[in-house]
Amino acid sequence: MGKVILTGDRPTGKLHLGHYIGSLHRRVELQDAGDYEKMFVFMADVQALTDNADNPEKIRQNIIEVALDYLSAGLDPQKCTLYIQSQIPELAELTTYMMNLVSVSRVQRNPTVKTEIKMRNFEANIPMGFFSYPVSQAADIAAFKATTVPAGEDQEPMIELTREIVRRFNQIYAPVLVEPNILLPENAVCRRLPGTDGKEKMSKSLGNCIYLSDDADTVWTKVKGMYTDPTHLNVSDPGHVEGNAVFTYLDAFATDADFADFWPEFQTLDELKAAYTAGGIGDMKCKKLLNNVLNKMLEPIRLRRKEFEQDIPEIYNLLKKGSLAARETATRTMEEVRAAMQINYFDDEELIQSQAQRYKK
Ligand code: TRP
Repeated sequence: MGKVILTGDRPTGKLHLGHYIGSLHRRVELQDAGDYEKMFVFMADVQALTDNADNPEKIRQNIIEVALDYLSAGLDPQKCTLYIQSQIPELAELTTYMMNLVSVSRVQRNPTVKTEIKMRNFEANIPMGFFSYPVSQAADIAAFKATTVPAGEDQEPMIELTREIVRRFNQIYAPVLVEPNILLPENAVCRRLPGTDGKEKMSKSLGNCIYLSDDADTVWTKVKGMYTDPTHLNVSDPGHVEGNAVFTYLDAFATDADFADFWPEFQTLDELKAAYTAGGIGDMKCKKLLNNVLNKMLEPIRLRRKEFEQDIPEIYNLLKKGSLAARETATRTMEEVRAAMQINYFDDEELIQSQAQRYKK
């Protein structure tokens, strides 16, 4: 069997540059490389509801935002199956069975869940569904027999737990499920893009995002206001590139071709960095470069987004088709799961006959 790639996002907001560089861009590359048997990308609305139970409207609104972000970034429904988690009820069934294969204390040790509980101030009032979402995520992955999960570092504990549950399942019942591997972003800048304010992480709740759907004016306003080097007061002062968000973004997004296009005085980012560090390069010039680099990348995405926005019903339609196709795959896995667990009573002729024998007088 070949590779099965699977990944998803909680539809709680529009996708930003951090999502793009950390994951979305990679997915499009994987999709276009074609080195897989199947590829699944889904919106984890069930998981999003585990900490948004009182606000389903937020999830409902963001399904289409994320779908537009996916499609305009280049995910192609001809090449990968796009679907919505809640439309695959088999996932809930598999979650229930998997819950028996893991202990409460094992889930409690999950560092990502720990951080999230703190961030949300759940403390003594953790919703049961939220607490157990890592098990539901194991089902998301195992129901499709995914081999490869492109995701960020924060998802490592989920994949590890999935491997453990799958291993236990296969040991106890029958070797039906597949242990997945995580596929991490290649380099550190891609793993965690800082916010425009220079803070550790680009995140909606911190209000420091550049969205894929931002227009050129909005991007320029955000880039102009970006955090740089607080000690670089005059152009002639030596500057620092470490911790300077503009340079971190250039590390993530600028190519040598961008220099030829936008700042031919330098051939590479390393040359610009050396000049900036020596002194004599203004922040505004660097911001203009970054703005050009970002717009060159975002413009085709914006154009595709405009086209897709013209036919929103068609997007729901393709998500529906994707969900039906995904459900077929999950249904097949669940048949094997039930047979392995021997809860497929009505298909088990041997069981029926042996019980009949037992009661024969
Ligand atoms: N936990 C992921 C997130 O917070 C979303 C997700 C749910 C996921 N199920 C998944 C990612 C399965 C990869 C594979 O964005």
